[in-house]
Amino acid sequence: MPAATAADLLTWYDRHRRALPWRALPGVRPDPYRVWLSEVMLQQTTVTAVKPYFEKFLTLFPNVKALAAAPEEAVMSAWAGLGYYSRARNLHACAKAVAAVGRFPDTEEGLRKLPGIGAYTAGAIAAIAFDRPAAAVDGNVERVMTRLHAIETPLPAARAQIRLLTQAMVPHDRPGDFAQAVMDLGATLCTPKRPACALCPWMRPCRARAEGLQDTFPRKLKK
Ligand code: ADE
Repeated sequence: MPAATAADLLTWYDRHRRALPWRALPGVRPDPYRVWLSEVMLQQTTVTAVKPYFEKFLTLFPNVKALAAAPEEAVMSAWAGLGYYSRARNLHACAKAVAAVGRFPDTEEGLRKLPGIGAYTAGAIAAIAFDRPAAAVDGNVERVMTRLHAIETPLPAARAQIRLLTQAMVPHDRPGDFAQAVMDLGATLCTPKRPACALCPWMRPCRARAEGLQDTFPRKLKK
């Protein structure tokens, strides 16, 4: 893809970016604690469900030191209702590890070593909090990228290819905005059913759209 494709998405993002409580104002470097907390909460939970929990955690535990020092029961009870409770246990363990060192690692590799941080979350934090040229590929991003490139390989086999294609597009001047722009595109326009292609900044380069097959991607292995 030409660099203009990523640039067109960023132009769209600048106009339509969702104001979310974990997002810093444009041009302001976000707090790694807020980025990490939001990405762990968003791993298996929707933006709408996460918002009140994110605010509650920031009130109860305003920084990583406070979270690390909190009793396990306080963290678990603040998490109650969000589900996937291993995330809360890992969150607490991760806070302790980070507080012991004094700061979050600022690379994907460093982040990957922490409890509860997998490939997606490490990429997201590295890009959003530290402006590293990392790819953050979740289910939404997989849908966007399989459509853009009309990837015929079904999921999950296509994952490595999707990751490479996403990585290759990351604009080095705005990696965090690019990561969140692809997420917003998947959440608001490039939806699973009836995507709003007419409004999409990637309508022209999108191979699936050119074939009129946008809602048939991603391909999935037949059960
Ligand atoms: N889903 C996962 N991470 C997100 C983010 N930073 N913004 C919006 N949606 C997300």
